[in-house]
This record gives sequence, C-alpha cells and structure tokens, in this order.
Amino acid sequence: MASFAGAYAASHGPLLVREWESVPAEQKSRLASAFRSLGERITESRADVLIVVSPDHWSNFFLDNYPAVCIGVGATHEGPPEPWMKSYPHRELAGSPEFALHLVEEAMRAGFEPSMSHRLKLDHGACIPLWRMELPNMPALVPMLVNSIEPPMPSLARCYAWGRLLRQAIDSFPGSERIGVLATGGLSHSIGEKTMGAIHEDFDRETIRRFSASASSLLEYLEAELPRRGNGSEEVRNWLVAHGAAAGRGFELVDYLPVPAVIVGCGFASWLTSGSG
Ligand SMILES: [Fe+2]
Repeated sequence: MASFAGAYAASHGPLLVREWESVPAEQKSRLASAFRSLGERITESRADVLIVVSPDHWSNFFLDNYPAVCIGVGATHEGPPEPWMKSYPHRELAGSPEFALHLVEEAMRAGFEPSMSHRLKLDHGACIPLWRMELPNMPALVPMLVNSIEPPMPSLARCYAWGRLLRQAIDSFPGSERIGVLATGGLSHSIGEKTMGAIHEDFDRETIRRFSASASSLLEYLEAELPRRGNGSEEVRNWLVAHGAAAGRGFELVDYLPVPAVIVGCGFASWLTSGSG
C-alpha cells in the first residue's frame, strides 16, 4: 500500500519573485532558509508524489467556470503561465495519473465530487514554493486547486474534510509510492482591495497557535476572523487540507515572518508523520 509522506505548507505571492531584490537581507535569508528547510524535509520524506494544494489565480479558470475543487489527473502539467515566472526551470511537470484518478474515484465514492482536468497549468501558487524549496528531484505532482480566491468558496470544515479524504485515498492506494501533501498560500495578505498590503500579524500568530489546538478551535477562530483579515488570507483553506491529511496532529512551525516588501505574512510549516492517521 502507498504511505503518507507528510504534510507541508508554505506561503506564496508574486512579489516573492518580482520584488525579491527589495526584501531586506535578514528577511530574505529567513525566507530562503524556510523554503529550503521544507525542501529538505520533503526530500528526507522520500515523497514520490506530492499533492499540491493551491488556488488557481485565474490561470486555468475564470468567472465563466470556476470549480470549487479541481484535481489534475494529467500525465504532465504545464509550467507557470505568468510572464514574470519565465525563469522557472520547468515548462512541463510530471503528474501521477494513477494516483490522481484513484483520488477522484475515492472522492466521488465519498460524495465530494471534484472537477478534474487532464491538462492544468501550475501557476505561481504552486511553482514559487516548489522553486524556492530547491528540491534536487521533483516528485510527481497531483495538483488540487481549491477555490480560495473567488467567493463563494468551499467551507473551512469542508477543506479540513478534504484533507481527511486525501489521507484515506493515500492509505487505500494499492501502490508502493510515498505520497505527501504540500499546501500553498496564506497567511494574511490583501490583494486588489482597499486594504491592499495589510498584514495582520496578530491573526497569523493566533492561527498558527490554533494549528496546535483542536481542529474545532482553529475552524471557529478562522470562521470569525477571516472576513476581516484580507482576501488573500482565505488561502489558509489550503493549510486546512494539509492539516486534515495529517489528522489535525503534529503541526510544527518552521518559520513565520511578516514581510511588507512582498505584502504577505509568510508562514512555513510541516506536520510530523509518525503514528497512524
Ligand atoms: Fe495566492
């Protein structure tokens, strides 16, 4: 049977690439170390497959058709379409159609009904963390695009439940692969709205604290706070998927720092993998 290779989370944001040179040296070094530390953990986990949980920043979908959740079942995915991501080293990334289809089937059986795509573009949401983590070998990627951009969005409880479902799909996959989960997005940021640029450090720190408390306390806090913490903060949904995959246990903060130069409260975390799910 396949095995769970851990869950990981990292922030993303276009300015981590576009404004990298204007990030103060000390923050730049902490960001680089945090991304690299996650990369090392993933390498040590010997993950053959990574489910990358990210929003779609209107790279594949638009308002005429924006799925709540879409799973990429293709043998390959396209690299990032953003012109400012042209230095990203991969124009094509390998998928894992066997596991991805198993995941979709498990989801359908459990009444989750995701959309699926045989050809997705992986935008900066997935590719900035993958790039900065400096993985010596890129695992096969199964993109899971969760709408954390355009209301109405999947509920927080549903995102956590999706994580539990991912774990069930990993545990029931009849292969020998090691399969991990990488969530990207958050923590607080605000894009293209009146509060653009605001970082809510108090919210970020309390959210981080509650990842080590009960899932109900975390969800309750986020339900109450997310509506006034900037639209980008909604991407914490993806962290909830990772948290669910880890059964709500083992959260470990790698680093957190608010970075005004990239207008994101940048968080990095992993979930310990020992024990059963
Ligand atoms: Fe984003």
